[in-house]
Amino acid sequence: MAQQVRGVVAPGKNEPVRVETIVVPDPGPGEAVVKVQACGVCHTDLHYKQGGINDDFPFLLGHEAAGVVESVGPDVTDVAPGDFVILNWRAVCGKCRACRRGRPWYCFDTHNATQKMTLADGTELSAALGIGAFAEKTLVAAGQCTKVDPSVSPAVAGLLGCGVMAGIGAALNTGEVGRGDTVAVIGCGGVGDAAVVGSRLAGAARIIAVDIDDRKLETARAMGATHTVNSRDTDPVAAVRELTGGFGADVVIEAVGRPETYHQAFYARDLAGTVVLVGVPTPEMKLELPLLDVFGRGGALKSSWYGDCLPSRDFPMLVDLHQQGRIDLGAFVTETIGLDDVEKAFARMHEGDVLRSVVVL
Ligand code: APR
Ligand code: ZN
Ligand code: ZN
Repeated sequence: MAQQVRGVVAPGKNEPVRVETIVVPDPGPGEAVVKVQACGVCHTDLHYKQGGINDDFPFLLGHEAAGVVESVGPDVTDVAPGDFVILNWRAVCGKCRACRRGRPWYCFDTHNATQKMTLADGTELSAALGIGAFAEKTLVAAGQCTKVDPSVSPAVAGLLGCGVMAGIGAALNTGEVGRGDTVAVIGCGGVGDAAVVGSRLAGAARIIAVDIDDRKLETARAMGATHTVNSRDTDPVAAVRELTGGFGADVVIEAVGRPETYHQAFYARDLAGTVVLVGVPTPEMKLELPLLDVFGRGGALKSSWYGDCLPSRDFPMLVDLHQQGRIDLGAFVTETIGLDDVEKAFARMHEGDVLRSVVVL
């Protein structure tokens, strides 16, 4: 029997979000219905509401979520009712060339639930990032569910579904930060701070946080940065070189997504160092570099997709490290709110003192 629950819907471009009654169908083959316990508010939800992703309104927002599987479709064996799970954007196929090469984050054949959730009048909803978890319950592909230790707080677990995983993974998986390395992180919002946490976990000796906002630098220090540079008044490339005996950082992680910070990242790394690009640019942005520098400086320029994570390996591991007290993912939860407060949380994003507002159900 399809169920009616409450969910946060973006009805049209730039219109305020509304809590609506939504209809969640029973799970079909390969699908699961999840009782959502927590879902973080991410910039991407705001982009959906602003029409910046596509025009498939109305959207059911929310995609950084954890909850308990309520029911599964006929052929589902990997998860079962009662499992505590973190949701990820897409289930991978496991069969394509990228999956077979062990790089499922580049899977050519990802999928979400086949059926659609609807408004009470039958209007089909587009689920943000194939999840739609600002809702009491949501329908996803079973492959989007990863089981983790149920004793962790849902608000913390949900964060691994997006920004925090992207940042930690940029350091651990893409950058392969090693013990004793020097890392510079440019842009210390939620993603950059998570890269700081990942670098610390990897045993980096120096973690240099770069931002244009002193409050962000303070938070980055609390997360584990050992040095901070305000790039509004200081050239960050010169500052990073000065802090590294004139050489540059072994790994530079860019978590802003702008041409000038891509440029800084390129030059703030040591010869043969690694640049990790996790900040997402817009289509019209361009990066201009002398080819002789690209050739001569060597090393690697890597982009990081969702932290190049393997959910089944990385989600349980990071939950475990958090539960042991070896990383503090709770520090990313600035406030917990209800479904009715999502619009207010969007407004607070611009104020700069919120890492994550998390809807708790
Ligand atoms: N130089 C340094 N820092 C900057 C600059 C700049 N020119 N411009 C902005 N910043 C800082 C901001 O002060 C803020 O601390 O970058 C940070 C961006 O943080 P958020 O807006 O909170 O964004 P976040 O969620 O961390 O995502 C960062 O990663 O995954 C991507 O799509 C995401 O592109 C986005 C980026
Ligand atoms: Zn997100
Ligand atoms: Zn695949």
